[in-house]
Amino acid sequence: MSTQPPIKPTSEQLTYGRYLRVTDLVSLQQPQSDPLHHDELLFIIIHQTYELWFKQLLHELDAVVVNLGRATLHKDARDEIYESARLLRRCTEIARVLVEQFTILETMLPSHFLAFRGKLRPASGFQSEQFREIEFLCGLKDEKMLRYHEPAPEMHARLERRLSEPSLRDVFFDALSSVGLMTDGGTGTSEEELFNIRARAILEVYRDERGKRDWIDLCERLTEFDELIVSWRLRHIQMVERTIGVRMGTGGSSGASYLKNTLDKKFFPELWEARSLLAEVS
Ligand code: HEM
Repeated sequence: MSTQPPIKPTSEQLTYGRYLRVTDLVSLQQPQSDPLHHDELLFIIIHQTYELWFKQLLHELDAVVVNLGRATLHKDARDEIYESARLLRRCTEIARVLVEQFTILETMLPSHFLAFRGKLRPASGFQSEQFREIEFLCGLKDEKMLRYHEPAPEMHARLERRLSEPSLRDVFFDALSSVGLMTDGGTGTSEEELFNIRARAILEVYRDERGKRDWIDLCERLTEFDELIVSWRLRHIQMVERTIGVRMGTGGSSGASYLKNTLDKKFFPELWEARSLLAEVS
């Protein structure tokens, strides 16, 4: 077996550090505590890591939207459905990591967080533009949220754009219609009627397991992603309660009790409704 050493790069060649901009990356942590509190570096790195994964999620979810958009262009959408499910599997694996990562932050004692928390006010995860972008992109659009992003005009504009663009939820049902698995009610259909039409279309998909395996797989991936985001919300609340108890948030909300109200939020409610509609087999 050859024991040749690795190539020694010249100063002009691409290196690991130059490609990944490591020098820039490790200089992006700017603690506010003075003197530096030991745990603030962990607090910053955890948040930055989440934001990087949010960026990757947006990249993948955008690709799913493009794929499903293509699926609406022809009757046989098999390739697009397969590709969308494949990309969504990456999203669910990332979401699983996001849920798990809170355990690292939970190694920080509540007293240690309180020692530098005051320096962070009024900054809060509530202002995470990318988290809100994921919500908007998936279909959970709430225009009221925009005002919290006014201090960052570029991100505010991105969120506005997301509000006006078709969501993943929209393109998924458009694709279902285009292959003839759903007929929407046309103009004048109320939101409630549309919800029921969509849920019944999903029901029909699940009833035809042999013929609609690819669609069922896609529905399962979307449901799993939705489920994992709820798990993320729940783990975040547990970590918040463990760290600051019932204190108000640095963003000014009532803290854990505000966050508990977000637990019912779903990206794809029709997929959940269809489960209640499926009949039992006796
Ligand atoms: C000690 C750690 C943490 C505490 C005590 C905490 C606390 C809170 C609280 C109280 C809120 C409600 C808004 C407010 O009034 O501030 C909130 C919102 C939020 N936090 Fe955290 N958080 C922590 C860590 C994290 C981490 C690591 C992330 C990762 C990105 C994160 C992301 C968010 C997001 C996205 C929201 C908005 C949720 C929504 O509106 O549905 N938080 N956080």
